[in-house]
Amino acid sequence: MSIFRTLDDFDMTGKRVLLRVDMNVPIHDGVITDTTRIERTIPTLREVLAKGAGIILCSHLGRPEGRVIEKFSLEPLMQILRSFLPNININFSPDGELVAQPGEIVLLENLRFNPGEESNTSDFARFLSKLGDIYINDAFSCSHRAHASIDGVAHFMPSGAGRLMQQELETLDHALNNSAHPVAAVVGGNKISTKLGVLENLISKVDHLIVGGAMANTFLYASGVPVGTSLCEENMAVTARNIIDKANNSDCKIHLPVDAVVASKLSYGSVSSIVPINEIPEEMMVLDVGPGTVDNIEILLDTCKTLVWNGPLGAFEFKPFDAGTNATAKAAAKLTVAGKLLTVAGGGDTMSALENAGVTKNFTYISSAGGAFLEWLEGKILPGVSVLIK
Ligand code: 3PG
Repeated sequence: MSIFRTLDDFDMTGKRVLLRVDMNVPIHDGVITDTTRIERTIPTLREVLAKGAGIILCSHLGRPEGRVIEKFSLEPLMQILRSFLPNININFSPDGELVAQPGEIVLLENLRFNPGEESNTSDFARFLSKLGDIYINDAFSCSHRAHASIDGVAHFMPSGAGRLMQQELETLDHALNNSAHPVAAVVGGNKISTKLGVLENLISKVDHLIVGGAMANTFLYASGVPVGTSLCEENMAVTARNIIDKANNSDCKIHLPVDAVVASKLSYGSVSSIVPINEIPEEMMVLDVGPGTVDNIEILLDTCKTLVWNGPLGAFEFKPFDAGTNATAKAAAKLTVAGKLLTVAGGGDTMSALENAGVTKNFTYISSAGGAFLEWLEGKILPGVSVLIK
């Protein structure tokens, strides 16, 4: 039995459902470049409407910090909603004055135009609660924010999780807390300092911690390996050594790169070479893991049953430094398709890195969340989740 209410637990006939989703989509030069987040919440919208409710839909977009900034208005997203739900009556109501009739959707303006959203004032939470009879949170990716539409409002109304929220919570919990061992985690990205909590929590949960990206340089530096001009947090060397010690005293083995792709600078198509990890030239920087490291990871993954992935292994935005991430992702995807490995990924750059590798359809689950996925990996109970717990 679920520890939070879901759509199954409410009679929604004739009710107004205040539905918090994450429509914080990427926009470049005024053009929305990816609508995946909206698409993933459509099943919840359809189900709530089919249950006979009207929906008051709400989200934030960007970080307007309590001010009305036109480029962050949700109004342009109406056409995307309409394209996903062509037969539904969808209206825009900046101030929440329109009432959603059963089977209809009313979209509110960007929640963060109101300063009460981020400061989670009870006034704003109460205002939101008056707009509906039932509150449903389908925005796992925002649930690390104790904001009025995520936390405050749930104190004033019967509350539950939408289908995307439910799927995220159930799948992620299964992957890290109840899945088959051995469990491996890939943690990449630039800085140890931003993923300290993640590394520490994972050591207590997984059997193998595979470290890549620039953060591996800090671990190598802390182990006495010269890293040339690589990105490296020298001031985190003691912390890195502590993490290694902690892993050595537990059942978790840390795997660092054994070779690297190096170049004199980070740019598209830079001349690069492959060197053993203890032969990084003084004037060169590490920009990707080498093929020997990828081989080792592939051999390791072949022995594992579960993989949790956060962060790229190299500077994947600049070819050819996406090769290590791509090859590792493809190996994990192949094992997933063969039914040998459960693969769960999420967080910031991870989605783009896996998309670049062409594997997103072959992983078991890719979370829609960035920061929330990281906080979940840290073992934190997110405010938007704890408030839903029965
Ligand atoms: C995200 O993009 O991770 C969520 O929409 C949360 O956005 P925020 O980091 O601006 O709170």
